[in-house]
Amino acid sequence: MLKKRLFKLLMPFAAASLILAACGAEEGGSTNSTNSEGEKTKLVVGTDAAYAPFESFDNSGNIVGIDIDVVKAIGEEVGIELEINNVGWEPLFQQITNDEIDIGISAITITDERKETYDFTEPYYEATQLIVTKEDSDISKLADLKDKKIGVQINTTGHYAAQDLQGKTSTNILPYETTPIAIQEVINGTVDAAIGDNAVILEYIKNNPDSKLKAIEDDSFEKEYYGLMVKKGNKEVLDQLNEGLQKIKDSGKLAEITDQQLD
Ligand code: ARG
Repeated sequence: MLKKRLFKLLMPFAAASLILAACGAEEGGSTNSTNSEGEKTKLVVGTDAAYAPFESFDNSGNIVGIDIDVVKAIGEEVGIELEINNVGWEPLFQQITNDEIDIGISAITITDERKETYDFTEPYYEATQLIVTKEDSDISKLADLKDKKIGVQINTTGHYAAQDLQGKTSTNILPYETTPIAIQEVINGTVDAAIGDNAVILEYIKNNPDSKLKAIEDDSFEKEYYGLMVKKGNKEVLDQLNEGLQKIKDSGKLAEITDQQLD
């Protein structure tokens, strides 16, 4: 109740700043959630919900996971209402560019290349890549994949790691639409291994104990940091997200969310 009242109280300020943003050159975000005065009342969040434990569908068809809890907690802190949509990995980037969605949260690694087109919040999670291969495979390090078939989710940092190893045009790199498909192709034997984000691969192995897969670390994989993503120049939303993120870092809420859903 109190939260709702606070939200209502703050709303005129938020709305005013959004109108200002819309007038400026730094306009960003979707325009499909407006009230009768044409003011934004809601921000649209896009994700690729095939990525447990960060975003996936539960049995009732709800999108759940660490990222969902993180963005909801941020939204609550700064009083913005959110609509969360499963849009898929590649469409996520396009839809932000096209102003169809305002915010991307999808275990997105902050990279210099992406920063040319998008803005990111401060990091909220540290990750790295892992190799996943069959339990009985001889593969034990990244260098062993030099001439092997590697499955990846398209345009992810796992994909880029495979390209760094084999060259950008290597036909031994097989890009798939989702990470679970790439891992499934290891099980099927279409590829020798897959490369993907550590927590997601470990979660997959944990949830599929009969899959006979193992995860392999390699020191040459660098540390990565996840951030929430907005269109470049959408300072209005970025500032709100960073403010909320800082609050949930300070309060311990962020640590609580990640600890709860990871082991
Ligand atoms: N962290 C990796 C990247 O940013 C993979 C993220 C994929 N996320 C997803 N929900 N499919 O490239």
